[in-house]
Amino acid sequence: MNMEAIKAEFQSELNVVEDAKQLSSFWTKFLGKEGQIQGLMSGIKNVPKEEKKAYGQAVNEVKTWAQSLYDAKKEEIDKKAMMARYEEETVDVTLPAKHTAAGNLHPLTSIRNEIINIFAGMGFEVFEGPEIEDDDHNFTRLNVLKDHPSRDMQDTFWLTEDLLLRTHTSPGQIRVMDAKNPPIKVLVPGKVFRSDSDATHSPMFSQMEGLVVDEHITLCDLQGMLDQFVKAMFSGNVKTRLRPSYFPFTEPSVEVDVSCFKCGGCGCSLCKGTGWIEVLGGGIVNNKVLENCGVDSTKYSGLAFGIGMERIAMLKYGINHMGKLFENDIEFLKQFKA
Ligand code: DAH
Repeated sequence: MNMEAIKAEFQSELNVVEDAKQLSSFWTKFLGKEGQIQGLMSGIKNVPKEEKKAYGQAVNEVKTWAQSLYDAKKEEIDKKAMMARYEEETVDVTLPAKHTAAGNLHPLTSIRNEIINIFAGMGFEVFEGPEIEDDDHNFTRLNVLKDHPSRDMQDTFWLTEDLLLRTHTSPGQIRVMDAKNPPIKVLVPGKVFRSDSDATHSPMFSQMEGLVVDEHITLCDLQGMLDQFVKAMFSGNVKTRLRPSYFPFTEPSVEVDVSCFKCGGCGCSLCKGTGWIEVLGGGIVNNKVLENCGVDSTKYSGLAFGIGMERIAMLKYGINHMGKLFENDIEFLKQFKA
């Protein structure tokens, strides 16, 4: 085929090329190693010697011409493909967003965080002890002697003669004093276990223990700290009241009441008409407990308290049955979205 015929065919076939696949076969047919233009090149051997130079030049011109037309076509096809992809991948930003349900913290987790935040502001650190304890930490060194009723089978889940599920977070006091010398200022949050179950009791519940050991610690420090705590937790207007009580590990021991934050102290259903609500137990650490942990009770004194976290949650959120905190009913839990 002569040069002009090839050029004409090249041009007319290029005109109808529409996509990358057609372009690729087109390349093979004309510009590839065995293509027609290459064929023109090889044809030089049949050209008389004196015409070879002119022939070679002419073929080169055709080649350059063909390549530039091919390049332009390729650019056009690539651009078309890219535009088609853009079109296909277009995001409609006006579509309504897909709704993903966000979870929220469990009310007990919020209460735990809130208590820690309040006491962290007063310089407390957090320490966690084990849920399986031995008699020594859970009872004996806390001055709960062998015949004390709280050791009764009805209250304590015993695992072996010596091991039990801790009945309170107070063994954390012993573990902290074993590990650290005064000054001590710690919170011990955690689950505790007792064989007890009704509207306000559950076999598993959570406490927050507080312990401060330093020189000159008095009951005033306890009341001052707890005053700050209840004001931050319930409302700036509430007051605390200490009532004498008894715990083997504190002497003196107190029950701490807050003035009712619902009725302001006039008497309502929440405070059962008394104007006061019991929130926690505490006291001055019994010297025997300090001595059991090797702390010099002539130099140091301590205060301790134990907060029932479910009780705080129930009071704060108006929950009437403790079981609600453990049932994991989504409709109930969703109400506590911050
Ligand atoms: N451990 C006590 C209980 O479970 C609560 C308690 C009372 C803790 C007085 C204390 C305290 O640290 O000083 O009922």
